[in-house]
Amino acid sequence: MKHWFSDLVAFQRDPLNFFLERGSNATEPLVPLSMGPYPVMLVADPNLIKPIMKADEAEIDKGRLIYKLREIIGRSSMTLSGESHKARRAALHQQLARGLATSYVPQISALVRQQAAALALEEKFDAHHATSRLTLRVICTILFGPNVLTRADENMLVEAIQLVEDDLAADIFKVLPDLPWVRRRKKARMQRGRDMMTFVVNRARAKASDASILRALEDLRLAPDEFGDEVLLLLLAGHHTTGTAAAWLLYHLASDPVLAARLADEAERVSDDAGEVIPGRLATAPVSLGFVREVLRLYPSAWWLSREVQRPLELAGRKLKRGTSLLISPWHLHRDPRFWDDPLVFNIERKFSGAAYLPFGAGPRACVGMGVGMLELQLLALDFAAAYSLLPLRVQPSDPKPSITLLPPDLPLHIKSRATGRSMWPVTHGV
Ligand code: HEM
Repeated sequence: MKHWFSDLVAFQRDPLNFFLERGSNATEPLVPLSMGPYPVMLVADPNLIKPIMKADEAEIDKGRLIYKLREIIGRSSMTLSGESHKARRAALHQQLARGLATSYVPQISALVRQQAAALALEEKFDAHHATSRLTLRVICTILFGPNVLTRADENMLVEAIQLVEDDLAADIFKVLPDLPWVRRRKKARMQRGRDMMTFVVNRARAKASDASILRALEDLRLAPDEFGDEVLLLLLAGHHTTGTAAAWLLYHLASDPVLAARLADEAERVSDDAGEVIPGRLATAPVSLGFVREVLRLYPSAWWLSREVQRPLELAGRKLKRGTSLLISPWHLHRDPRFWDDPLVFNIERKFSGAAYLPFGAGPRACVGMGVGMLELQLLALDFAAAYSLLPLRVQPSDPKPSITLLPPDLPLHIKSRATGRSMWPVTHGV
């Protein structure tokens, strides 16, 4: 007989494989999982995603698994519903909508180029170490205006995230309570992480320029705590997701000289005579767009999403009780051979439409920063490919680590400027 948490051990041992196996071998659209006292269903059929993600909040909403993130991001748009969510989302959308996001192109491009030049001086670097700092700079520039973070601030934020992320991830699917002293230690770590983040956010806010998203949020007249939570959410959701995907993007750029050459060509096509990217050309740049989409398919930063049934309902022929968690795993859906040809093959020419592709979620709670995230990754690919040769220093990287986001393993890379240095690539690189 199945115990009510019989799936938990397999999940905790290897969450990525667990979702992939259960999802890909599913014989029904909703797969019941025994992961604790509450009912949990894995959504194995992509056709259910729309009805779930677009359901009325009174029927299906965010739920307790997502609310656990409140320990860090408090009551912010990610964890709120109803009118308070709508008002915040509208304010953010006004600043971040896809068309508007392109106004950030010159700033993002400048930060990418600065970072690439600094890395080329070092010659060797770890991809995620570099991209986590770069994406932090980008989101801070968008949020607060240029040059508000010092190097020490950046390090403190990255350290704070590392401090809390694994505890938070482990707590989300926890069934048995921690022993008191373990709980105390975790609580202290969590508080310290949040204090470090709040310290940096307050310093940045004090230096913020007028033209930033911060001012739009101020117009909402939130209580000071709520305001702080919203800023912290933007900072975390806005950089950690992009930073982890960006690390894989650099790895694949380094591993595929033919792709690197195609991107370098495209960089020329989307730039003016002075080498500046023309924002209007990015939406129709197929190589970089396909590249970014394929990276987000194989390494979706948000590797699981969850919703909770708010009142008894029927879905896919199953009667679901109030409190049932519905888990959707982009990691599974993006790699399920039922929906993708050769799912493990990196192929930027795929067709990325369809319900089984959702790196940014779906429906009214889909990522509000999608335009900025896509833009950052596209510019990263184009700017690096335009001027640098990259080489992976480890041929077979380890698997990603599932935490709150999908963390990349060590991805050591070599970088050399193509203008000044001798290329390390064979002729196919088109130097
Ligand atoms: C590659 C980069 C990114 C990925 C993969 C990503 C992914 C996601 C996903 C999957 C969701 C939906 C979560 C759910 O349905 O439960 C989400 C929500 C959100 N994201 Fe992103 N994101 C990225 C970049 C960004 C950026 C750059 C920002 C801010 C500038 C941002 C801000 C947000 C916010 C505020 C929400 C909550 C939206 C709401 O509930 O209304 N994200 N993101």
